[in-house]
Amino acid sequence: MKKILLIMAIVGFSSQAYAGNIFENLFRFKGVKPVMNDLYNDSCSECHYAYFPGLLPKRSWEKLMLPDALEDHFGENAELDEEDRVEVLKFLVDNAADTSFYKRSTKIVRSIPEDVTPLRITEVPYIKRKHKDLPDKYVKNNPKVKSLINCNACHRAIDKGIFDDDTILIPNYGYWSEIGD
Ligand code: HEC
Ligand code: HEC
Repeated sequence: MKKILLIMAIVGFSSQAYAGNIFENLFRFKGVKPVMNDLYNDSCSECHYAYFPGLLPKRSWEKLMLPDALEDHFGENAELDEEDRVEVLKFLVDNAADTSFYKRSTKIVRSIPEDVTPLRITEVPYIKRKHKDLPDKYVKNNPKVKSLINCNACHRAIDKGIFDDDTILIPNYGYWSEIGD
């Protein structure tokens, strides 16, 4: 009898731990895959934070990473050595939104018409729609944000690929869950 109880206790304990894992994983997969790479981070975080590859489809990264496009990258020179360019491009393409099963990446991909190649995350229909009602005082006119491109100014768990409402903090205003509707 004692033995059976012990076995039950072990089985009970481990299945609980297992359920915990599943829950954690489901939560994790709701966002965007949190992948980083030293070369990518060094190459692309000088002027803005380095966006996760899962925020744009492959075709967008391919177009952004063309040598000519990097030379005139939104009016700045973001040129890379050929070897680095190829490696960064590979990292981006390997982890792009359309290779990912993470929920936000899937939504991003689904919202973009097939014949469109957005060069901006902020022009992806899903991302645009999510932020269209934010007043300028939170974004443009907020000296701690300045532009919607600074995702990490408000999304405080973005390094884990998480965008949920309870992780959003508008600088100077507070948690979105408290100020939002
Ligand atoms: C020399 C500065 C600089 C570097 C280096 C740089 N960027 Fe940018 N990037 C910019 C500027 C400027 C913008 C446009 C900002 C704006 O609209 O306010 C931008 C915008 C972007 C956007 C669009 C943001 C949006 O959603 O509107 C993406 C994507 C992007 N960069 C990717 C990259 C990648 C990938 C690299 C590395 C290969 C990189 N950037 C390196 C300056 C830079
Ligand atoms: C000024 C602060 C701010 C900035 C900057 C910002 N966001 Fe957001 N974002 C929000 C708020 C607030 C919401 C929630 C909107 C709502 O619930 O109506 C949101 C929602 C989202 C959502 C949906 C989350 C959900 O649970 O539905 C995603 C995904 C997202 N943002 C991604 C981004 C990305 C990517 C960037 C950068 C390109 C960005 N955001 C920049 C404030 C910001």
